[in-house]
Amino acid sequence: MEILEKRIRQDGELLPGNVLKVNSFLNHQIDPDLMFAIGQEFGKLFTGEKITKILTCEASGIAPALTTGLIFHVPVVFARKSKPSTLNKECYETEVFSYTKQVTNKINVDKKFLSKDDSVLIIDDFLANGEAVKGLINIAKKANSKVAGVGIVIEKTFQGGSKWIVDNGYHLESLARIANFDNNTVHFVGEE
Ligand code: G4P
Ligand code: NA
Ligand code: NA
Repeated sequence: MEILEKRIRQDGELLPGNVLKVNSFLNHQIDPDLMFAIGQEFGKLFTGEKITKILTCEASGIAPALTTGLIFHVPVVFARKSKPSTLNKECYETEVFSYTKQVTNKINVDKKFLSKDDSVLIIDDFLANGEAVKGLINIAKKANSKVAGVGIVIEKTFQGGSKWIVDNGYHLESLARIANFDNNTVHFVGEE
């Protein structure tokens, strides 16, 4: 997606540990026009898939998930990171290991929002090792929901997540695919 790649080049900052900081339009301040264009793009890329709900994880997945839900006219469910104070039995819960933070967190979704009748499109802001997406797939499995696809705003193709998703048979669409950060520069997949 050209306007997204342009924006990453303009405003993205490279941090140690192969982390791309995009706080000015995605992870802290949010550009709603860009988010709307992202929703429209996912709308095109997943045309023909049966989608009853969008599934994401708080916090940064919510903005692109919301605009995608707006295009498909379906509810947007976000997995919560905090433990619900009420009974665990009311929730589908799974563990997610974070490589960046080296900790395991639990995420959960209330059982009333996902069922066997759902076909979910998973949306997230970043795809690195794929642990967050694996967690969301686990939640969908626990609910007996189908996974119609996985839509990612920024994929770091050199980390293992995208390969795992495709190898496991899921329809993956990423709007920006980063091949590497050689010479402290963002190189997209397919560039010279
Ligand atoms: P993984 O889910 O793909 O395995 O990635 P990892 O454990 O490494 O990522 C943990 C968190 O860091 C996730 O956000 C993920 O979206 C984010 N992340 C991974 N790589 C990058 C990157 O290069 N740049 C930025 N800005 N974020 C990255 P989270 O902890 O769930 O936080 P939230 O922002 O969604 O609240
Ligand atoms: Na995220
Ligand atoms: Na994030």
